[in-house]
Amino acid sequence: MEIKPYLNAKKELVDSFLASYFDSTVSASVLRDSMQYSVMAGGKRLRPVLVIASYEACGRDAEEIVQYAAALELIHTYSLIHDDLPSMDNDDLRRGKPTNHKVFGEGMAILAGDALLTEAFYLLTNTQLSAIGFQPSVMLRIIREIAMAAGAHGMVGGQAEDLLAEDSGVDNDSLSFIHSHKTGALITVSVRIGAILAGASEKEIYLLTRYGESIGLAFQIIDDILDIRGDSVELGKAIGSDKRKKKLTFPAIYGIDTSFKKAERLVNMALEALEPFSQKADPLRGIAGYILRRRN
Ligand code: IPE
Ligand code: IPE
Ligand code: MG
Ligand code: MG
Ligand code: MG
Repeated sequence: MEIKPYLNAKKELVDSFLASYFDSTVSASVLRDSMQYSVMAGGKRLRPVLVIASYEACGRDAEEIVQYAAALELIHTYSLIHDDLPSMDNDDLRRGKPTNHKVFGEGMAILAGDALLTEAFYLLTNTQLSAIGFQPSVMLRIIREIAMAAGAHGMVGGQAEDLLAEDSGVDNDSLSFIHSHKTGALITVSVRIGAILAGASEKEIYLLTRYGESIGLAFQIIDDILDIRGDSVELGKAIGSDKRKKKLTFPAIYGIDTSFKKAERLVNMALEALEPFSQKADPLRGIAGYILRRRN
């Protein structure tokens, strides 16, 4: 399956939801401008597209869950704004534009991140926007899972170790911990909530979790490789940031070739996990391959 048209179509769905959401729900203010600036700056929308592709793999229609998919993008964008701060990775370019703190100042960038994280949970529970109703028990489960994946048990926990590992030298276990938490957790939960909302069986959720964990780690390994030999214009962010910050990355420890092979193995594991699924999971299969080939 040619994945590019699928990715473009779903990205369009998410982008149009997000564009109208800011105008209709968040009151006009500098804070809203700052939130909207980073969310609408671009981005691949991988996490919301994964929510949708997973939901569709379980036999349902994308339009029903754009709201929940978009909520994952708000959390992801908040993580990028904070990741770029001078006290974290200190980066000036993101999604092809000056980073949030370069435009709005550090204080407003911190607040925009805080507000996007909180807004995500408001959006998840905004039943007035909901195209179809889900059981309260299902909603509770996905909110709990997203909170776990975003916070100290997941992404923020990984970001904390990522900071602590700067300058710390070789350590295999922390490297896998950092990558699976800072990046893998949000990617995995995206796939999981698509399946949970679709009413998938625990066996299906288990297999999709294996898929998400594998592509999540592969995604960050490729991110690390692109930071060395990617093209800054295509990436929309500066390259060489990891080396400058002495980050613990796969290529820094194993070199580019071995790291790429590891990413390939992970993608194959992801594809194996999808074997019991019908051709409705072809977009998930396509996304796995795309993660290795991507240039941004
Ligand atoms: C960048 O994520 C941060 C990582 C977790 C590697 P993406 O590469 O998905 O960034 P956007 O959303 O497309 O800008
Ligand atoms: C960031 O990893 C992961 C996040 C949770 C934002 P990186 O620091 O490598 O992401 P980029 O390269 O700045 O996008
Ligand atoms: Mg970082
Ligand atoms: Mg960074
Ligand atoms: Mg990076």
